[in-house]
Amino acid sequence: MRKSTVRAGLVGSGFAANLHIEGIHRVYGTNVEVVGIHARDQAKATAFADAHGGEAFAELDALLEKIDVLHIVAPFSLHEAFAVRALERDVHAIVEKPFTGYFGDGGDGFDARDAAMSDAKTGALDSNRRMLAAKAISKGSIPYAENWVYAPAIQKEREVIEKTEAQILWLHGEEAHSGSHAEAYGHWRLNGGGAMIGKGVHPLSAALYLKKVEGRARLGKPIRPKTVTARTHSLTRLDGFQDKGHLRTVYHNVEDFAMIHVTFEDGTIATVFASEIVIGGIHNWLEVCANNHRTNCDLNPNDMMQTYNPVDAQFDDIYVVEKTGTKQGWAKTAPDEDSTHGFPQEVEAFYRTVAYGDPVESDGQLAADTISTVYSRYLSAEQEGAQVTVELL
Ligand SMILES: NC(=O)c1ccc[n+]([C@@H]2O[C@H](COP(=O)([O-])OP(=O)(O)OC[C@H]3O[C@@H](n4cnc5c(N)ncnc54)[C@H](O)[C@@H]3O)[C@@H](O)[C@H]2O)c1
Repeated sequence: MRKSTVRAGLVGSGFAANLHIEGIHRVYGTNVEVVGIHARDQAKATAFADAHGGEAFAELDALLEKIDVLHIVAPFSLHEAFAVRALERDVHAIVEKPFTGYFGDGGDGFDARDAAMSDAKTGALDSNRRMLAAKAISKGSIPYAENWVYAPAIQKEREVIEKTEAQILWLHGEEAHSGSHAEAYGHWRLNGGGAMIGKGVHPLSAALYLKKVEGRARLGKPIRPKTVTARTHSLTRLDGFQDKGHLRTVYHNVEDFAMIHVTFEDGTIATVFASEIVIGGIHNWLEVCANNHRTNCDLNPNDMMQTYNPVDAQFDDIYVVEKTGTKQGWAKTAPDEDSTHGFPQEVEAFYRTVAYGDPVESDGQLAADTISTVYSRYLSAEQEGAQVTVELL
């Protein structure tokens, strides 16, 4: 087969941009031309382009004229604006998680603690509708860069569910660590919420995806979320919290712990935890309890490799695993963390969509279900756990 060439651009040059560019460099099903990058900080964009190819564009529109696909790896509050601009030019818009959300008026004075969560839900769903509407009239697609969907463990579970026609009764999972590094994190006006949206979307989207797979295999249509019950807490802002320096604590008006319980259309359930209070490395897992099997998807940590290091400094220039506070002692070392998390696989899949029209597993619909469920959860949490109906777009 002759490979098509995909012309790629990125908006944003931070942490997620690095994950995406590494994925781009590993694409094998298409040829890739990295055209360039646009970011707020031109010097950082230039450094990124120098390291990874292409050029730094001062204007996003100039970049959009030259590319087939834009990776949106900028702050969450800008996802909608960048996606719509790309789709208006028939450029495919790969949107990082969370897909979109509610940021109040976006001004410095906005404090979500004073906002009604019904407004947050309406605002997030309206944003989501505008993104799907832009996609509906564009030649571009809008893949949702939820890497958990493409993680090898989740894709292997997809195969098990499809081939055995399993009925999933309960999914439960978690994403947690000791606190996000991103500059924008901790401010609702920039991040649309806290742990529930920043971290919870990962296991939640994976759970919604596997119920979609089950429905597709057994019934010919996805099984979608119906209601949600949630609680949120700000543990590191409690008056009595004793800070020993191991957790990030600079959350201004967002939660650092969330628990979410989802009921699907068929009455089955998913429970997801998300937090910023777990030390000892990232804690990303999803367990599937089905009528015919049980699966543990251990994304990170897992037992692929374990090392014992008696002297911390010895591993100074060796990456071990995400978010551990020390490299001394036993570690669940990650030999290829990006791949275990599904980053190169998602980029490969999206480029096949752009080049050959392959269907997208993690699509705008899954993103919309996730966003609708998350903001229904904020409404539930505001009502101290009352059950809220998930509005499906
Ligand atoms: N899938 C994952 O596991 C994962 C991990 C980290 C981040 N993310 C997501 O990626 C996105 C970016 O997060 P990050 O951690 O890379 O943040 P970051 O702070 O490291 O980088 C943000 C980048 O956006 C650029 N930017 C900011 N405002 C801009 C503007 N107005 N115009 C153009 N560029 C602008 C900044 O210059 C910076 O390069 C977020 O949506 C985040 O949720 C996903």
